[in-house]
Amino acid sequence: MSNVLRLALVDPQDGSRETLKKMLLGMDMVWLEAECSRYEFFPDVVAQSAPDVGVVSLDSDAEKAISLLGRMRHEAPDCALLAVSSSSDGQLILQSMRAGAREFLTLPVSLEDLMAALNRMSETKFGGTSGSGRATRVIAVAGASGGVGCTSLAVNLGCVLAAHSENTVALLDLDLAIGDADVFLDTIPDYSLIDVTQNVSRLDFQLLKRSLTKHSSGLYLLPRPVQLQDVSLITPESLRRVFGLLKATFTHIVIDVSKGFTETDLAAFEFANDVLMVVQLDLPCLRNLVRLQMSLDEIEGLGEKLKIVVNRVGLESGQIKLKKAKETIGRDVFAQIPNDYRTMVEVRNNGVPLLEQAPKAPITLAMQTLANQLSGNVDADGEDGEEKENGAPATAGASSWLNFWPKSR
Ligand SMILES: Nc1ncnc2c1ncn2[C@@H]1O[C@H](COP(=O)(O)OP(=O)(O)O)[C@@H](O)[C@H]1O
Ligand SMILES: [Mg+2]
Repeated sequence: MSNVLRLALVDPQDGSRETLKKMLLGMDMVWLEAECSRYEFFPDVVAQSAPDVGVVSLDSDAEKAISLLGRMRHEAPDCALLAVSSSSDGQLILQSMRAGAREFLTLPVSLEDLMAALNRMSETKFGGTSGSGRATRVIAVAGASGGVGCTSLAVNLGCVLAAHSENTVALLDLDLAIGDADVFLDTIPDYSLIDVTQNVSRLDFQLLKRSLTKHSSGLYLLPRPVQLQDVSLITPESLRRVFGLLKATFTHIVIDVSKGFTETDLAAFEFANDVLMVVQLDLPCLRNLVRLQMSLDEIEGLGEKLKIVVNRVGLESGQIKLKKAKETIGRDVFAQIPNDYRTMVEVRNNGVPLLEQAPKAPITLAMQTLANQLSGNVDADGEDGEEKENGAPATAGASSWLNFWPKSR
């Protein structure tokens, strides 16, 4: 784990120390190196554990705590200090800042505020602008046509990623009106995206994780709202705050976006590192893709994130040839997922992921390869895509249409 902030905490009050500890333990960006219940022992704890950040609670004895801050500033100048107190008294804040605290937070602290403060400290420590500890990978899954396999891909990619013990993975169903990721995972979630969005400012880590449904694969699901009326309550702004919270908690976030390319979908693209565009090798789909690409490429930063995933390769002899499709799209094909109707019907009917239903099937292996590619472990298919050409001849109609589009597109 790189760029993880190592923390030491001092708070003589057991209750508030436990609350703070629980919150910190749930965050991926921090590693709680040591905790201490006596102000006088803290300098030794810090000398031994050399944390990046010292969290000092002032409530037990403000005077002692402030003098500890002053001492720490001299004795451990590399340890950034974060003061916390249930008092928001201006004098106290001023005193602690003067004594050497880099940040001050009022208790009870919200996860959002804690993250923001730690992000700022992380930026100072590690440089850069990401501010997050271990960089979270955010993968949005979009499709160029209805039923191309976005949810199948998002769910199974999420499960494949979650199978690695070092990963914590959340799947966010952003197909707000008709999303069905919960059905793919055979779960009846207690909470939805609407609960998280509405309570974002008072969510702590425990509540956030309880709001998500944990599947037996290890994947956490945040489903779309139950009521259609609630969809409008989810705005790009409220989503951005949810994204921030998820990012502090999970190593991977997979987002199944809608086919509407709505404002909320675009917010997800903005947040994502990779935008997978799922297509099938048929005329309507490729035609949509070409058109969509023209618009999406105009959005700053989006063009580089866009990765084409061809699904259901080998579906029928009438499919457009991969080579032809690539020429038309003007982009490499990042990954190919074979057609496997029988297995996909089984996983759908049983509500289990591919990894459980058919761990050795080529379609499952293709999902694993895709996960590796996204982690930078394997080359994209685009380099050797020809070898995986499905061999199906293009239909006359398709090829004449495909020739119509300039290659540069
Ligand atoms: N590689 C594949 N092979 C066979 N069937 C597939 C494949 N990918 C998806 N499907 C099937 O296609 C249908 C639509 O998939 P879905 O993931 O719901 O698409 P979307 O989310 O884009 O609407 C489902 O019945 C699914 O089982
Ligand atoms: Mg879907």
